[in-house]
Amino acid sequence: MNDKFNTIAGWVLGGGIVLLGATLVTNEVFKHHPLEQKGYPIEGVEEAGGAGGAAEDPPIAALLVTADATRGEAAFRKCSTCHTINDGGANGIGPNLWRTMGSPLGHIPGFAYSDGLKAVGGTWGWENMNDWLRNPRAFAAGTKMTFAGISNPQERADLILYLNAQGSNLPLPAAPAAEAPAAEGDAAGNASGNAAAPAAEGNAAAPAAPASANAAAPAKADAAGH
Ligand code: HEC
Repeated sequence: MNDKFNTIAGWVLGGGIVLLGATLVTNEVFKHHPLEQKGYPIEGVEEAGGAGGAAEDPPIAALLVTADATRGEAAFRKCSTCHTINDGGANGIGPNLWRTMGSPLGHIPGFAYSDGLKAVGGTWGWENMNDWLRNPRAFAAGTKMTFAGISNPQERADLILYLNAQGSNLPLPAAPAAEAPAAEGDAAGNASGNAAAPAAEGNAAAPAAPASANAAAPAKADAAGH
């Protein structure tokens, strides 16, 4: 009886020692993983290496020429689960977004922004809003905005134009002398009273110069005076 007990006790003890050993080894092996992941948020690297990232997108200034605030308003439905955008609207999961463009990052005083977003600093403009909406986590490591981002560059431009129309009304950036975006805008027959519409009219009045770099110039002038 006693012998049997000792044998069993021995096995139990032995098993325990083996388990302890295995645990130590496993801890050694996996110890380094969390450390490796800390290196990621380096913005330059993200942009250069990211698939379908900034490098391939047309510049935001060009996309704004063909942007449409009405389409942007429709796209904002994706945001409205977390954000209001009316003047004086309540904060939800995310802060109220009235007059965000042109305001400092983290523009609602009472809202508990993440340290990641606060660390970025600066003011919201066309370029950084475009980067933010493309990939919030790449823009501000540790952001509380659990939103994957919008990969379609034209949809981002639509949204940003809509955001800008909600209390900000910053002047549009100068359109680069790009040929293709102007042609696309005309083809889409975009007639909702933004920068693309004057470009289309310009072409109709001067059929000899279809969608050239010149066509972008009146659009730019109109947009700036808007
Ligand atoms: C799941 C909820 C959620 C969704 C969906 C969401 N956001 Fe956010 N948003 C947040 C949170 C939370 C913050 C605060 C981020 C932080 O502190 O890191 C934020 C911050 C922002 C800011 C910065 C505001 C400031 O005061 O600086 C902007 C701009 C913004 N969101 C725009 C959008 C847009 C546009 C969309 C839709 C395309 C969107 N968000 C979708 C939750 C969301």
